[in-house]
Amino acid sequence: MPNQPQSGICAEASSDATFVLLNCIKGKEHTLREVLSKLPDLIERKQNKFAGTQLYATIGFSVYAWDTLFSQPKPKHLEAFPILKGEFIEVEPEQIDICLHVRSIRRDATFALTRALVDIFEDSVEVKSQTDCFKYLDNRDLTGFVDGTENPQGDNRAQVALIQNEDPNYVNGSYLNLMKFVHDLPKWESVPVEKQEQIYGRTKEEDIEFPASEKSVHAHTKRTSLKDDQGQSLEILRQSMPFGNLYEKGLMFASYAKTPEIFNTMLKSMIIGDEDGNTDHLMKYTRAPYGSLFFVPANSFLRQFTP
Ligand code: HEM
Repeated sequence: MPNQPQSGICAEASSDATFVLLNCIKGKEHTLREVLSKLPDLIERKQNKFAGTQLYATIGFSVYAWDTLFSQPKPKHLEAFPILKGEFIEVEPEQIDICLHVRSIRRDATFALTRALVDIFEDSVEVKSQTDCFKYLDNRDLTGFVDGTENPQGDNRAQVALIQNEDPNYVNGSYLNLMKFVHDLPKWESVPVEKQEQIYGRTKEEDIEFPASEKSVHAHTKRTSLKDDQGQSLEILRQSMPFGNLYEKGLMFASYAKTPEIFNTMLKSMIIGDEDGNTDHLMKYTRAPYGSLFFVPANSFLRQFTP
């Protein structure tokens, strides 16, 4: 397919993932652009080598990278991540140029592709951070609740995540919103399960949604389950996964969508709240040291920079 979307956007949830944040090195932009044209084939070669591991990758560019790397028109909604300071949480956006999101069902495959992708850039990028993620139990966040249940399914995943005629220059591109959430698990684990369930608006063990009439205005699923002016559900495709070591643990929140505006509306509803100031009480138990928006173009965009 000439205008293929990048493989990591719509594929089903993985059991292993890595997020690598990179910055461009000044003066090396030409080398970096040439490397981009090699990425689709490199990814395909590794997919063949690690056949059966559901190995996928995406590369996304922030507004800061776009302005220095590309002369092509900026995707319609590529802008800075919103600066939000709420009752419980403050999002700290950071100026990062590039995000690599690699995932599979086997750690060795994720590792091999991540390493190859970073190595091929040689000295044209600086690695700012790497976060390795894993599947926890039956796709649960470390707070113990199943994450991803209400995600779009089947063909609807592409409809939610991929740009079509909204931005004709960038058909099959997508916007990746990435946030690192570091949980205060001792604080969360001291909360009785019934109260945890109210905070999510779902049951913990069986993952059943509370009836709308029983959901608190502060429940996470109340604050994020939103509709537009025509009564249509606002949807994003979440590919979040837990990460953790003995020092820091939480969720790498990642969502793909045809516009970042939906994510922005949800995040505002969580952090700043509704017209009555009702915010998301899940935010009492976590902090957000990182947030960025990246544009993930179709493969044809990457291929055009052939040397
Ligand atoms: C639902 C966890 C942050 C958007 C859920 C669910 C869990 C969860 C367990 C219920 C099951 C499901 O996936 O449907 C978390 C955690 C977060 C977090 C632990 C960070 C601490 C966010 C953010 C957004 C978001 C930042 C978007 C701005 C959603 C949406 C749903 C959802 C749209 C589905 C709501 C529905 O239709 O019922 N989340 N989430 N989440 N979350 Fe989050």
